[in-house]
Amino acid sequence: MYKTISCGELRAAHVGQTVMLAGWVHRRRDHGGVTFLDLRDRSGLVQVVANPEISPAAHAAAEAVRSEWVLQVEGKVRRRPAGMENPQLPTGEIEVEVGALTVLNPARTPPFPLNEETDVDEMTRLKYRYLDLRRERMQGKLELRHRIVKFIRDYLDGRGFWEIETPILFKTTPEGARDYLVPSRLYPGEFYALPQSPQQLKQLLMVAGVERYFQIARCFRDEDQRGDRQPEFTQLDLEMSFVQREDIMGLAEGLFTELVETLVPGKKLLAKPWPRFTYAEVMARYGKDNPDIRFELELRDISDMAAGCGFQVFEKAIASGGAVRGINAKGCGAYSRKEIDELTQFVATFGARGLAYLAVEASGEHRSTFAKFLTPEWTSRLLERMQAELGDLLLFVADKPAVVFESLGRLRVHLGDRLGLRDPNTLAFCWVVDFPFFNWSEEEKRWDPSHHIFTAPMPEDIPLLDTDPGKARGQQYDLVLNDHEVGGGSIRIHDRALQEKVFALIGLKPEVTQERFGHMLEAFEYGTPPHGGIAPGIDRLCMILAGETNIREVIAFPKNQAARDVMAGAPTFVEPGQLSELHLTIRE
Ligand code: AMO
Ligand code: AMP
Repeated sequence: MYKTISCGELRAAHVGQTVMLAGWVHRRRDHGGVTFLDLRDRSGLVQVVANPEISPAAHAAAEAVRSEWVLQVEGKVRRRPAGMENPQLPTGEIEVEVGALTVLNPARTPPFPLNEETDVDEMTRLKYRYLDLRRERMQGKLELRHRIVKFIRDYLDGRGFWEIETPILFKTTPEGARDYLVPSRLYPGEFYALPQSPQQLKQLLMVAGVERYFQIARCFRDEDQRGDRQPEFTQLDLEMSFVQREDIMGLAEGLFTELVETLVPGKKLLAKPWPRFTYAEVMARYGKDNPDIRFELELRDISDMAAGCGFQVFEKAIASGGAVRGINAKGCGAYSRKEIDELTQFVATFGARGLAYLAVEASGEHRSTFAKFLTPEWTSRLLERMQAELGDLLLFVADKPAVVFESLGRLRVHLGDRLGLRDPNTLAFCWVVDFPFFNWSEEEKRWDPSHHIFTAPMPEDIPLLDTDPGKARGQQYDLVLNDHEVGGGSIRIHDRALQEKVFALIGLKPEVTQERFGHMLEAFEYGTPPHGGIAPGIDRLCMILAGETNIREVIAFPKNQAARDVMAGAPTFVEPGQLSELHLTIRE
């Protein structure tokens, strides 16, 4: 036996007991001939005292140990001398007087200190991830993630869901990213695809009569990396039969409300029930379909006033079918030229060709790039539209609608950060519904599904598929939390003819459809129940609940921002023999 109790569990109630502990040396101090060790295991720290008068051998051994050595200690729990207690530490009332000390394994000096919160370069942390994860903060996040997943499993089990595993070696399941492919040794030239999500499989489980399925599912997508994206990530994937949109939304809302109230009681929900927005409304108010609704600074449309206003930038945008929208940055009227230039550069990264401004100084005077072109009447209408008060800064972008939304939507969040309006202890969940069913892809000159190809249109919009597909809305719902899309789902098509119509509208030829999705179409002919589901992203959810801004912080072994595993060094070249077995040759 290595230990009878864990370090962090010891309390005054154990005084007088002889215990066996095992763990890592967190810190060593020598004091007046006596050696003090903080011994650490997963449960926490305890102070261990090696006194040469009690055990000369243990004291000599303790003097030799260094940080992160692995020890076994046998000793007696005693109360710390009066005045020496440490109220910061759960074990701070007691210490362990060492009788025997065994070194289980020495350790090299770690590449960064594990016993204090220091800023360590992320490459080093990832290279030595097994050491990084030893740190208290990281252990806390591993535990939180475990609790979250356990809560989800118990909650869904209690509501009649079955957890079912689906294959990783599968066939392309399009979710809009590139596939990771696995070459087949047995079938030259053929490939499996790793699932971008278990979308088809969970629908087929509904055909199979499962009715309520979930899975903590690994998904693989080869796409550009961002702070909240990983090449492989985890979804709570779920699907239900005989349901409508409200059933799925109600289930997810109940689950996550209870989950955060139980597991992160220090954070409060902005609103219960969660607010719901249509896609058109979130875009108009926040400029993005994954808004942070913890603060205002909403966008306002001035396109109707911009035509013929006298300022060329605005006029041109309208004349070419664009829009002009603005944000009232409350209280920023005193921003310097330099500060406004910084904001202009910020929006430029999202394609805006400029940022027109009007600062209403506290004195009532105006500073502006464009007011000189405008009549006083127009300007006062503008101030009214923007609800401007003394001391406000009005910021405008004139461009194609997509650029206006993207740049102002991001600027709004940026200003929210600058002004300290994004309270880290508030969780603002909301739903976004009534998405357009299709988006027009100018590049490929065809309709693109806004969620995925299996999403059903709103029943009343089905006739629009024949007349004006761009106007149809989908039965899609997105789950949004604090500026992140944390989940997406929909009611599905369960009718072969409708599914074929959607395939045709997105430009898939019948042969291609048959080859790629023939199994789905065939399944729809064997009594498919109406069904729908959702897939919240576990990593993103954990990231936000842990108060982190990067998804890598809540994944034990993540890839870096260039999609590499820097610890093991993947991807790697492989032996020529392996390639030839797989019938592959590498192009020079
Ligand atoms: P969707 O593609 O919207 O839907 O994905 C659902 C959720 O998965 C998370 N997510 C990611 N997390 C980390 N890294 C990534 N690269 C990544 N990509 C997506 C997000 C997102 O909201 N099959 C459908 C779901 C359904 O219709 O039921 C799907 O996968 O939190
Ligand atoms: P210019 O005529 O390009 O010198 O721009 C005059 C002012 O209008 C500058 O302050 C620019 O930042 C701003 N501006 C230029 N293009 C845009 C645009 N598309 N949207 C908003 N402001 C713009």
